[in-house]
Amino acid sequence: MARKKQAHQIPEGNVITLENVYKSYAKGAPALNGISLDIKQGEFVFIVGNSGSGKSTLIRLLLRELKPTEGYINVLGYELNTIRNSRIPKFRRNLGIVFQDFRLLNDRNVYENVAFAQRVIQVSGRMIQKNVPAILAMVGLADKYKSKPLELSGGEQQRVALARAIVNKPMILLCDEPTGNLDPANAWEIMQLLEEINETGTTVVVVTHNREIVNAMKKRVITMKKGVILSDQQYGSYIDEEIGEDEEEEDEDEDELYVEQGTGSWRTDTLPLI
Ligand SMILES: Nc1ncnc2c1ncn2[C@@H]1O[C@H](COP(=O)(O)OP(=O)(O)OP(=O)(O)O)[C@@H](O)[C@H]1O
Ligand SMILES: [Mg+2]
Repeated sequence: MARKKQAHQIPEGNVITLENVYKSYAKGAPALNGISLDIKQGEFVFIVGNSGSGKSTLIRLLLRELKPTEGYINVLGYELNTIRNSRIPKFRRNLGIVFQDFRLLNDRNVYENVAFAQRVIQVSGRMIQKNVPAILAMVGLADKYKSKPLELSGGEQQRVALARAIVNKPMILLCDEPTGNLDPANAWEIMQLLEEINETGTTVVVVTHNREIVNAMKKRVITMKKGVILSDQQYGSYIDEEIGEDEEEEDEDEDELYVEQGTGSWRTDTLPLI
């Protein structure tokens, strides 16, 4: 069957393209209110913004967990508006995903958690035996392969989740607040691993509230506010609230979600992602 002709001109090298994307849930104001965005292969991009600004909605659209209400989304050449359900698993094989709450299989050990990702895509047993120890060594967990997730620290659990996300060598790694449940030292370790993964050519998109890390890493920073992109800086920093805020009072309430701890700003809640 002949392929449908590409209607949109996707600039070469872009692995993610959004054009005028809107997303409304059943109730309330639109979660995304006209987002246009290109991300090139090999980029490392932070997405920041207040609680409720639409960051997780954006990630879920990129995973094709959600469909946009309006607008065009292309990820790795897949048009997500029109992709058939039967092709979604194949599309998702190109993506690695890390969430704030790890989402590990708690009744299986570390090795099995990572191996599982390979079994799903029918990698041979021999290759799994080669790949899993290599990835666990990369994330510094070679000696913990027999442990169950709940016998590990939060930082270690997130490193298992990261190993699982990258063992199939995804083109794009999407992370939604990967350090949201971690202390500063573990948060830094995860970010450094993300940078290493990025250096191997993987495009990395990280939603975070971690001001200190964003400011130190000097990556592209996309700041969202109420469903739109407030700024998009190449070597950016966490936008100070005064610059990003208008005079509405509801935003001030959101500040209560954060406490200053050491030099960083940390969430006091652990809202579930979905
Ligand atoms: N499943 C849903 N049903 C209805 N409304 C939703 C749903 N998910 C998110 N929303 C709403 O959409 C808006 C954007 O939510 P989203 O989760 O994308 O924000 P966020 O930037 O990820 O926030 P946070 O930093 O708290 O994780 C919010 O107003 C939220 O209440
Ligand atoms: Mg979120």
